[in-house]
Amino acid sequence: MSSADLLNDLTVRPHPDDALCLQAVTAGYGSQPVFDRLSLQLQCGRIVGVLGPNGAGKTTLLRLVLGLLAPVSGTVAVLGRELRNDADRAWARLRIGYVPQIQSPTALPITVADSVLLGRWGRSFRFLKRPSREDREVVHETLALVGIAELAERDLATLSGGQRQRAALARALVRRPRLLLMDEPTTYLDREAQRELVHLIERLHQRLHITTLVVTHGLEAGWRFDRTVRLSGGGLDD
Ligand SMILES: Nc1ncnc2c1ncn2[C@@H]1O[C@H](COP(=O)(O)OP(=O)(O)OP(=O)(O)O)[C@@H](O)[C@H]1O
Ligand SMILES: [Mg+2]
Repeated sequence: MSSADLLNDLTVRPHPDDALCLQAVTAGYGSQPVFDRLSLQLQCGRIVGVLGPNGAGKTTLLRLVLGLLAPVSGTVAVLGRELRNDADRAWARLRIGYVPQIQSPTALPITVADSVLLGRWGRSFRFLKRPSREDREVVHETLALVGIAELAERDLATLSGGQRQRAALARALVRRPRLLLMDEPTTYLDREAQRELVHLIERLHQRLHITTLVVTHGLEAGWRFDRTVRLSGGGLDD
């Protein structure tokens, strides 16, 4: 990584080709900041790994990008637009697909296809606007893309861990996002399933060219990133 990306670098300026631009971001929960003047710039079209130990702030970084956490100071720009208010955050969220860290089991009886359809919520269907035929077609295309088309009508709760991760990936991709954020997508998978998921994500990246940010503890699963960013002690450590 170039020195321009390093912590405390105030020369970072948003560029139209940036998927993300954080400038001197201080952020955290309560009085203890997780990030202290963090600056980071990521170009569109890349697949980037975010590494770091437990508690380093990997999920917090994703929360900043999603607009779920506002910085105490500094700026966060997503796809060239600075997140200043709710309208900016809603704009960004429509363009982001997010695979959260833990796929909590659901008590709701819901099919895999319907759970993926929920990823279109707010984009093409919403309150008082039903999903269209196209929405359902996109769901089935996306399930095929991630290799679980045959599970479309299964109850989500009956899927294995690896299948559930694929369903979560489909739910993120069904939005047709420009930016894909994944928080430890290989958690709970055995070595073989980890490698399969890594290959799937790499193939999808090559095919769809979506800027992809993958939070991961390590590279053992066979990740080959365009770039890696290491978080520790409130900033970047590459
Ligand atoms: N909602 C919250 N309220 C208070 N502190 C929080 C909250 N969420 C995270 N933290 C703290 O912020 C720090 C960074 O947490 P974060 O979840 O971003 O780490 P992480 O790198 O994703 O860790 P892990 O590898 O365990 O997922 C930790 O010290 C954590 O305890
Ligand atoms: Mg985390």
